Amino acid sequence: EKGGYPHFMLKEIHEEPEAVKRCLSPRIRGGKVELGISGLPDDTLAAVDHIHIVACGTAMHAGLVGRYAIEALARIPVEVSIASEFRYRDPIFSKHDLVILISQSGETADTLAALRLAKEKGVRTLAIVNVPGSSIAREANDVLYTWAGPEIAVASTKAYLVQLSVLYLLAVKLGCLHGQLTEQQEADYCRELLEMPAHIQEAIDHEPEIISCAKQLKDDEHVFFIGRGVDYTLCQESSLKLKEVSYVHCEAYAAGELKHGTISLIEEGTPVIGVATQPSLYPKTVSNLEEVKSRGAKVILVCREGDKVDSELTTNLLRVPKVRDILSPLVAIVPLQLLAYHIAVLRGCDVDKPRNLAKSVTVE
Ligand code: M6R
Repeated sequence: EKGGYPHFMLKEIHEEPEAVKRCLSPRIRGGKVELGISGLPDDTLAAVDHIHIVACGTAMHAGLVGRYAIEALARIPVEVSIASEFRYRDPIFSKHDLVILISQSGETADTLAALRLAKEKGVRTLAIVNVPGSSIAREANDVLYTWAGPEIAVASTKAYLVQLSVLYLLAVKLGCLHGQLTEQQEADYCRELLEMPAHIQEAIDHEPEIISCAKQLKDDEHVFFIGRGVDYTLCQESSLKLKEVSYVHCEAYAAGELKHGTISLIEEGTPVIGVATQPSLYPKTVSNLEEVKSRGAKVILVCREGDKVDSELTTNLLRVPKVRDILSPLVAIVPLQLLAYHIAVLRGCDVDKPRNLAKSVTVE
């Protein structure tokens, strides 16, 4: 059942190119995005002027990337909330709001409660769900399935990639309907999205370098992740992944916030993983890495093929394929998922069933 892999987590990471392909290709036709959600016709989507994305854990982190994509491509303001906070916050809704719930299992109690709250307030809801027929899929006004196939490992990996894929499709669709993207731009995004499975595979093919990086980090008890913009959201997801499967204490920081406190924790040998895939932010993040390096940190950098890196700066360099900036999370998360997996294996952890965790959190 693990298809020859030692763990479901590894199998599911290796299934990512196929899962993303299955999710994207039926929804792209002739250079156009076709979401196929009958309950959400184009004129309704065209009228949406505010989006709330609500989810937990990894699904919430996918939502953070979704915010960047929707705001960049459609210029619609997006708020992302943790479901267990959103539901108790008495959120402010208005007429043309859309609430998007993201959930792999479709059964997460707080996400379901947030969905019910939005419906009660008369706000339109759209679920992005993996498990067919699950509670959230059934109760939302509309659903976009992610079609990743079953995800068994507690740590969510391929589900995150397909959640991103659906959010990109939605961002492109909204961008067109809101007059922000031309037909040509829509066609370009569609083509590039269809190329992503191959790039995700290229990222997976770097596994040997990732294993040597895992060997470097396996005995560390504290790991910091820093990045800016969409790379910061990847740091948040990577930090969650590593702590959940390896029991290492991890923290994700917006690189620009380091100097506001956290840098005091850096000492000789502290591992700091920098994620820098956005050309416009690259020099800034690299300069933050230089600062921690000068205080003794062991620096690991995730950057794109071809980016210039001073060989003195890093102990390990994890390269990812060069793709359009906004799409880079689809490839840049891959080495970080694999790194979490290999560190956990080297530490002898129960990778697929980490202690104290359940695959689907049906209690509040
Ligand atoms: O099934 P859901 O997507 O609603 O689950 C949400 C979180 O419980 C889940 O993503 C959790 O954070 C994962 N174990 C992270 O790998």
